[in-house]
Amino acid sequence: MTTLFDPIQIRGVEIPNRVWMSPMCTYTADPQSGEAGKPNDFHYAHYTARAAGGLGLVMVEATGITPEGRISPYDLGIWADGQIGGFARIAQGIRDGGAVPGIQLAHAGRKASGHRPWARFGSADAESPEGEEDYSWLPVSPSATAFPGSPVPHELTRTEIAEVVQAFAEATKRAEAAGFDVIEIHAAHGYLLHSFLSPIANERTDEYGGSPENRARIVLEVIDAVRAVWPVDKPVFLRVSTTDWVEENVGDFREAWTLPQTVELARRAAQRGVDLIDCSSGGIDVVPIPHAEDYQTRNAAAVRAESGVLTAAVGRISTPEQANGLIAHEKADAIFLGRPLLRNPSWANDAALELGTSPRFIDQYAYAL
Ligand SMILES: Cc1cc2nc3c(=O)[nH]c(=O)nc-3n(C[C@H](O)[C@H](O)[C@H](O)COP(=O)(O)O)c2cc1C
Repeated sequence: MTTLFDPIQIRGVEIPNRVWMSPMCTYTADPQSGEAGKPNDFHYAHYTARAAGGLGLVMVEATGITPEGRISPYDLGIWADGQIGGFARIAQGIRDGGAVPGIQLAHAGRKASGHRPWARFGSADAESPEGEEDYSWLPVSPSATAFPGSPVPHELTRTEIAEVVQAFAEATKRAEAAGFDVIEIHAAHGYLLHSFLSPIANERTDEYGGSPENRARIVLEVIDAVRAVWPVDKPVFLRVSTTDWVEENVGDFREAWTLPQTVELARRAAQRGVDLIDCSSGGIDVVPIPHAEDYQTRNAAAVRAESGVLTAAVGRISTPEQANGLIAHEKADAIFLGRPLLRNPSWANDAALELGTSPRFIDQYAYAL
């Protein structure tokens, strides 16, 4: 029986256990031009502390492949070579803590150009006091259909779609130069790639819209572009929204992205070199989401069982027993933790102690045993 603290080998990378840090935006980059997108001391301390807390893998937050691909001006970005150095320091720091360094590459699409979540009307963020022109831009999307509360986006031309695909490849090269071992392509939560997958946001009539195959085209192109420049011995993960929660919403008859479509995408993504599907959900529209503890992890189990592809579960995993059960009962191959790691950077070491296995303390913390 496989357990939470067993290693997992994916291509040439051995990940020491199956408790991983889920990508979480910290909205802490300096938005001023010249510094925009670059990690700083906060990011270094944040990620290295969690690596030292015993995790198998630390996934750096959604990182913009272009300036327009950021959720807010405070997001990390990897669209320029000058940004590589700060990421290299973090990747090495994560490795020094004993974890595998990964980075999520993202384009926020029609949900870009927002404020930090904690910005309140009238706050400095909301008023964009300096360099106002740098603080907002017109978001882009497959169609000129707005996310509720956001501006109507610019509909991408085919040439612009090709540029987005190329930007994923360029960002991947920089992530490799920075020393990351895992790339995660962000195709979830209503951001650009998900908005192509879902007919809620994609009303195109060309080869990027219509059938599920056409809607998945850009995702497969991005996978090909990433794989073409990323070392063959390093893993590529794909984070998807396994459902839009529209089909499950009684009385909502709109066509949407569904679990069976995710299973098919998982199969096709794996054929093109994706190693693991990171199973999240929702984000394309404002719809009710179930409250059950396993609301999302059960979709990870379904994708794993039906596609045969390695799968990570995420969402409302709170106890070591619950996390271990997902692995032991073959519902997932690894788990990602989000909010629990904001509360406790040493969640993994605490869980190892609770489950009766050896925690992984760095030398400086060895007295914690
Ligand atoms: C503050 C915050 C920032 C997040 N940023 C990202 C992100 O950058 N990329 C992503 O795919 N998901 C992001 N998420 C979602 C988390 O990765 C995770 O999937 C979600 O919080 C559910 O897991 P949890 O119940 O363990 O928190 C974020 C969540 C939070 C709370």
